[in-house]
Amino acid sequence: MSKITVLGTGGWGIALAISAHNAGHDVFMWSAFQSEIDLLTQKRQNEKLLPGVIIPDEIVFSGDISVAENSDITIIAVPSVAVGTVAQQLKGVKSHGIVVNVAKGFDPKTNCRLSQTISDVLPSDCIVVLSGPSHAEEVARFIPTTLVAASNSLVGAEIVQNALSTEFLRIYTSDDVIGVELGGALKNVVAICAGICDGLGLGDNTKAALITRGLSEMMRLGVCMGANERTFYGLAGVGDLIVTCMSRHSRNNRFGKLVGSGVPVKEALDAVGTVEGYYAADIINKLSKKYGLSLAIMEGCYMILYQNLDVSGVVKDLMLRPRHKE
Ligand SMILES: NC(=O)c1ccc[n+]([C@@H]2O[C@H](COP(=O)([O-])OP(=O)(O)OC[C@H]3O[C@@H](n4cnc5c(N)ncnc54)[C@H](O)[C@@H]3O)[C@@H](O)[C@H]2O)c1
Repeated sequence: MSKITVLGTGGWGIALAISAHNAGHDVFMWSAFQSEIDLLTQKRQNEKLLPGVIIPDEIVFSGDISVAENSDITIIAVPSVAVGTVAQQLKGVKSHGIVVNVAKGFDPKTNCRLSQTISDVLPSDCIVVLSGPSHAEEVARFIPTTLVAASNSLVGAEIVQNALSTEFLRIYTSDDVIGVELGGALKNVVAICAGICDGLGLGDNTKAALITRGLSEMMRLGVCMGANERTFYGLAGVGDLIVTCMSRHSRNNRFGKLVGSGVPVKEALDAVGTVEGYYAADIINKLSKKYGLSLAIMEGCYMILYQNLDVSGVVKDLMLRPRHKE
């Protein structure tokens, strides 16, 4: 039995905490917001995000981050924008164990991958990235799910794999931190586009094209950034891309659907909450320029979200762009 602390009490943090408890560990959860701690302590469920999912009594909630002291594993489960701040707070906590990042995005201050941000703050820590096709709504209800634990330290990845694996959660390891992390961050933009397709009332043909060509763009950018192309054919790449583009649980997809059906971007953001792909679209636009890449789908998404371009016009432009070999 290990001590596992989850920083962040949102949907994914709760799902992972329940899973870790089910694996037999002592589990602690921290939130920066006392209101979240009070509500969870009182109700033992998050009625909005995970209705009907009861959080076991043994899971301890705290508003004091020193609760992570003497953990074997500390999981950072907050949106990308907050990962750097939370890592800074964790720096003051002694013996917090292996640090696992589960956020799927980029650091908006530096445009870096999140494990880079964490290792800048906590340079001597073992850092593991946990990603793959996984909706909190299903993991929290023990629906069989697979993930990938990636780290520069195989030992670290295996510790996380062994600690969190159960009959409901199967975890693979990888040494391709860049590929696993980028798979999770880049697919969110393609998921927004899939939602836009739904919002526009387009068909399965369009969505299959989007997923396939979107994967190709993810791979091209990923390889330029140092990822192994093979990783994108695995769970953290195509696996996560499929689940996010096809599922009603995806916030990126829901956000895209609203935008595709004519809701203004700002209003759609307010309605859905954390939409990692919205922020990733801006950073990917900068990265594609930096690497001299032409990523037509990602660019189309950026122009819809940030330059207010007409959605149907972008689809038409994508179809009529100069033809080339697959
Ligand atoms: N929800 C899922 O199914 C799922 C699955 C895999 C990965 N993820 C990723 O995990 C991350 C978290 O997702 P979520 O669905 O749990 O998000 P959420 O919005 O439900 O919850 C986020 C948590 O982070 C906390 N938080 C927000 N801003 C903060 C700040 N500035 N400082 C400290 N804490 C802050 C919130 O209080 C909340 O407890 C995202 O990057 C997401 O892409 C989510």
